[in-house]
Amino acid sequence: MIREARAEDLPAMRGIEVAAGEAFRNLGMGAVADDPPPSLETLANYQQDGRAWVATDSGDVAVAYLLVDVVERFAHIEQVTVHPLYARQGLGRKLIEEAALWAATLGLKGMTLTTFADVPWNAPYYARLGFQPVPEDEWSAGLRRIVQSERDHGLDAWPRIVMKRRLAGGRAVY
Ligand SMILES: CC(C)(COP(=O)(O)OP(=O)(O)OC[C@H]1O[C@@H](n2cnc3c(N)ncnc32)[C@H](O)[C@@H]1OP(=O)(O)O)[C@@H](O)C(=O)NCCC(=O)NCCS
Repeated sequence: MIREARAEDLPAMRGIEVAAGEAFRNLGMGAVADDPPPSLETLANYQQDGRAWVATDSGDVAVAYLLVDVVERFAHIEQVTVHPLYARQGLGRKLIEEAALWAATLGLKGMTLTTFADVPWNAPYYARLGFQPVPEDEWSAGLRRIVQSERDHGLDAWPRIVMKRRLAGGRAVY
């Protein structure tokens, strides 16, 4: 089930992040795996602002989550993470479609995200969901700030990409 995150989901969301990060170690991206998950305070800010969703198992325990920022009239996916035990069951896609509906309800223009260009479950995955690369000369000031802060954090040790998906009634426009 997909639902808005609740305060009691926040510790599970951190656990999901740690577990999912391990997949990066096999690609020689140990620093990504070792990056600490978002703090409870950070997650609480998203949750209290209605910008955090979870996918839950049959016991209503969070097994995947998504966080969104609003960046220059686009819903910016700050994070989408699925616990490896629940991967490849469509939960990531359902969370992204939930955020797309939310963005459409707010009248936002579309969705953006930054991700690793060459990680199979990153840029190629989002391309399958209708996201397209955004060339640097089209980045908004807000996207530039996000990319810069990721560089400051060392994420550009591997190729990064900005991607965008336009919305029409919550659906992707190709
Ligand atoms: C990226 C992620 C959210 C996808 O969620 P998901 O629920 O597993 O994905 P879905 O079920 O919606 O879609 C499955 C598709 O994702 C891609 N995918 C997922 N895991 C993959 C893997 N380990 N290797 C290659 N492709 C993968 C494939 O395209 C797959 O389709 P297929 O099963 O038909 O091959 C999830 O893999 C994840 O949490 N990864 C770690 C954290 C992360 O990288 N987050 C994104 C940061 S920008």
